[in-house]
Amino acid sequence: MTLRLGDTAPDFKAETTQGPISFHEWKQGSWAILFSHPADFTPVCTTELGRVAGLKAEFDRRNTKVIGLSVDTLQQHEQWKGDIAEVTGHALNFPLIADHDRHVSDLYDMVHPNANATLTVRSVFIVDPANKVRLTLTYPASTGRNFDELLRVLDSLQLTDKHKVATPADWEHGQDVIVAVGLSDEEAQKLFPGFETKKPYLRLTPDPSK
Ligand code: BEZ
Repeated sequence: MTLRLGDTAPDFKAETTQGPISFHEWKQGSWAILFSHPADFTPVCTTELGRVAGLKAEFDRRNTKVIGLSVDTLQQHEQWKGDIAEVTGHALNFPLIADHDRHVSDLYDMVHPNANATLTVRSVFIVDPANKVRLTLTYPASTGRNFDELLRVLDSLQLTDKHKVATPADWEHGQDVIVAVGLSDEEAQKLFPGFETKKPYLRLTPDPSK
């Protein structure tokens, strides 16, 4: 099934390195990042999982739970865990789904047969507390993902859910933001006094969360 932004992220039950979970119950009240990697005991994946483990405090600060997935078995995940800790210095501190029967991979369309017939690609889904899909990303097996970018997207989503703003190219938390196009100048003046007009459709204001 192809998932689009705004769709409800399908619920599922799965075996993980932290025991069996029901996805919606597990993430209840939180944001979640569900991401797949092609296979255990592979180099790029080892670096990715260590990086995610090292960012735990950043995800926690954003009320976000992370959960990984591949079509390997629980036993393989357990054996691989030691390598991740040894190589990256970060022990796995989030659940890894053992999707041996491809139940979750198929639900989330994580196997792209023309890229690889059996392995998952590097998919990412950001899911909000209401279980809506807010970001989808697909990377090839040969390219490790930039997890700082996922933190940046979380910052943008959480800010723009709360305030009538959008975030410009390469925006980072704390930088100026764009006044929502749907606001008239009068409405914008009340919410963001002194905003700067670059063009009638491009108005800037300081990050309202600061
Ligand atoms: C890797 O993680 O390095 C990898 C995994 C599957 C295919 C190619 C590379």
